[in-house]
Amino acid sequence: MPVTIVLGGQWGDEGKGKITDALAASADLVVRPNGSTNAGHTVVTDDGVFKLHVIPSGILYPHCTCVIGAGVAVSPPDLLREIATLRERHPRLGQLYLSDRAHVIMPYHPLLDLYEEQRRGAAGIGTTLRGNGPAFTDKVARRGIRIADLLPGAEPLLRRKLEILLPEKNVLFVHLYRQQPVDLEAILEEAGRWGEQLLPYVIQAEVFVQDAIAAGKHVIVEAAQGTMLDLDYGTYPYVTSSPPTAAGACQGAGIAPTQVDRVIGVFKAYTTRVGAGPFPTELHDEVGQLLRERGREYGTTTGRPRRVGWFDAVAARYTVRLNGMTEAALTKLDMLDPLPEIRICTGYRLGAEVLTAPPARIDQYEAVEPIYEVLPGWRTDTSRATSFADFPPEARRYVERIEELIGIPITMIGVGPARRQIVWRHAEALA
Ligand code: IMP
Repeated sequence: MPVTIVLGGQWGDEGKGKITDALAASADLVVRPNGSTNAGHTVVTDDGVFKLHVIPSGILYPHCTCVIGAGVAVSPPDLLREIATLRERHPRLGQLYLSDRAHVIMPYHPLLDLYEEQRRGAAGIGTTLRGNGPAFTDKVARRGIRIADLLPGAEPLLRRKLEILLPEKNVLFVHLYRQQPVDLEAILEEAGRWGEQLLPYVIQAEVFVQDAIAAGKHVIVEAAQGTMLDLDYGTYPYVTSSPPTAAGACQGAGIAPTQVDRVIGVFKAYTTRVGAGPFPTELHDEVGQLLRERGREYGTTTGRPRRVGWFDAVAARYTVRLNGMTEAALTKLDMLDPLPEIRICTGYRLGAEVLTAPPARIDQYEAVEPIYEVLPGWRTDTSRATSFADFPPEARRYVERIEELIGIPITMIGVGPARRQIVWRHAEALA
């Protein structure tokens, strides 16, 4: 079956955009199943550096059709801006469609995101402040606004929904957060404009995707964020609000688990995370600083410096299994080039115990001590490697050790931002 899921195996920012872009060269359809404008996927082509937020990475190929699925929360002004910017800079884009069932990030959602974070103070999650959490909260509470509700003809329905919803929001704005109330008529007017502008893109996406699968098209589902940010299995409550897992990708794209034949987990050759929450292998020393600068580890969406640490094989093995990953892509291996030695976390020490999977209790996760295996570095430039054999033996050993620890083959290795800087390892090379 022709469906491949590409997802993050860590805390997001693993380089999924680059991997999806490479795979999309031979794909017909790329579907984004989750997240919102909170995500940032960077793709480097001969036409320049493109930072995508909610549009799937396949858009840079004219032959690729891209679909924003029902599981995404869409901010219409952000999406329209992203489309306009891409059109200006890239003359040959693929076709873009948007699910009529996707939820809308309404003007009050980013405000609520900000005020909620401010109220949490030191216990803040460090969200991207894009309104993601509040929009998915409304979705789950069954009071969300969907793209279909914005379209011409749906105004009475939207008005009815907002007449019930806004008094509730305004109690929060006025009495809890001491802010101005939001205005129904102003929101209705804005929503009407969005609906008209989005109309050409809106389709019944799950039917479109199923028709494509039935026609034998090659479909990639490009999930946003990473599994350790999942609501159920991530470092709750320091997580995002829609599922970045393979199961979530199926749900958000309108694809059944039985239709998927490849699940590619993307891992950075070290680890990064933005926002607050446990990060056992975090580095606070000059190695961390070096990786942050070399790896340009600053958020694509927010510009925030990312926290940086060693590869965490405990978390990685956990996400490999939860997602049924069939293979892995390892990105940014070249960032490790100057290091004399490299560590991999193989277990978490918690008191007298050694944990082999992340604990549910956040205070325990914050208290674990990583157990490290130390491998020699290679101190050689790997950015020009075109085959696995080109790597120094220490780099090959590092990749192979990660494979042993996570239990799946690493079939793609990123050694630089450009499209050509991927070392492919095919089945025969792994045998
Ligand atoms: P939210 O998704 O904006 O609510 O933020 C919740 C958590 O997920 C924060 O720690 C964010 O930094 C993190 N997060 C959200 N989107 C991304 C992403 O695309 N990459 C990495 N982290 C993300």
